[in-house]
Amino acid sequence: MTQIGWYGLGSMGLAMANNLQRHLAAKKALSLLYSNRTMSRGSPLQARGGTPEPDFKNVVSRSAIIFTMVSNDSVLQSLLGSVIGSGHSLKDKIFVDCSTVHPQTVSAAATQLKDAKASFVAAPVFGGNPIAVDGKLVFAIGGPGHATQVVKPLIQDVMGRRVIDCGEDATKASLLKIAGNIVTVNMMEAVGEAQVFAEKTGLGTGPMEELIGDAFGPVAGGYSKRLTTGAYAPPLDSRPGFGVSLAIKDARHAMAMAAEQGVELPGLEIARQNMEAARDYAGECLDSSSMYGTLRQKAGLEFWNEKSRRE
Ligand SMILES: NC(=O)c1ccc[n+]([C@@H]2O[C@H](COP(=O)([O-])OP(=O)(O)OC[C@H]3O[C@@H](n4cnc5c(N)ncnc54)[C@H](OP(=O)(O)O)[C@@H]3O)[C@@H](O)[C@H]2O)c1
Repeated sequence: MTQIGWYGLGSMGLAMANNLQRHLAAKKALSLLYSNRTMSRGSPLQARGGTPEPDFKNVVSRSAIIFTMVSNDSVLQSLLGSVIGSGHSLKDKIFVDCSTVHPQTVSAAATQLKDAKASFVAAPVFGGNPIAVDGKLVFAIGGPGHATQVVKPLIQDVMGRRVIDCGEDATKASLLKIAGNIVTVNMMEAVGEAQVFAEKTGLGTGPMEELIGDAFGPVAGGYSKRLTTGAYAPPLDSRPGFGVSLAIKDARHAMAMAAEQGVELPGLEIARQNMEAARDYAGECLDSSSMYGTLRQKAGLEFWNEKSRRE
């Protein structure tokens, strides 16, 4: 029986770990050994049979496969740094990171873990929290073939509906994720602009939302709902679906790589500026779609709408 470990129970990680634990329980496999900075976030997972372990080092020493789903590059680096070179053997362990991080971070992790006789698989995801809850994420996967073959059955029809295999080079999976987010962030900006236009011209956000959902698909429709339900600026005591700082990080990764290759991303740059202006005005507790608040202000409206928080 293989022990599987999990670190990171944020907006995405908790939903994904819940689905993995459900799968393990159905297979009568060992229950998921989980950890998070804020351990209380794991209560729903424990209720499903997951086993809490506050120390990441213990998760690693007790598990053969360790999933991570954390905010950004520095959190991943510090987690891996706490176990690489700690004196404990990592031989034959498989680390699977589902976070969105820069290909250089992936490359360094893959090299360090290879030196420690372990494997690193990059498995970033496409889709937001509701899709994660439904187990319908799209995964990109990259890493040593023997490791990705072990990991894929834990993803396909468990946490995800599709796995795009990017081959043995884990950085390719990370690159695909960053490229995909160029589309995601531009689409949020486009939907925000259209909804401000609809409101100011008297067309109304309702018909605009019907059109966006029907003509441009459920992803664009979902982004419109984040605006009309006020989820772009959720209550201060809640966790945003896709935090604005995470989307700014993704946009910066894409722009840094584009600049190295002489590629311009003008739409993404505007969206990044509007997200940063939103964060300057309304703080951290904002969804990535909160460029809408900035667009509203530029059009002479309040940052807030009738369903969002008001301060
Ligand atoms: N949300 C989306 O729609 C979405 C979609 C695709 C990909 N992604 C990517 O997936 C990753 C996770 O996103 P998310 O929305 O789940 O983020 P999130 O809700 O902000 O959760 C972040 C996770 O990282 C942990 N963390 C943050 N700072 C930490 C630190 N200094 N030390 C240890 N742990 C720390 C958090 O612990 P606490 O619970 O203690 O805060 C939490 O487990 C990100 O890389 C994001 O870009 C997100």
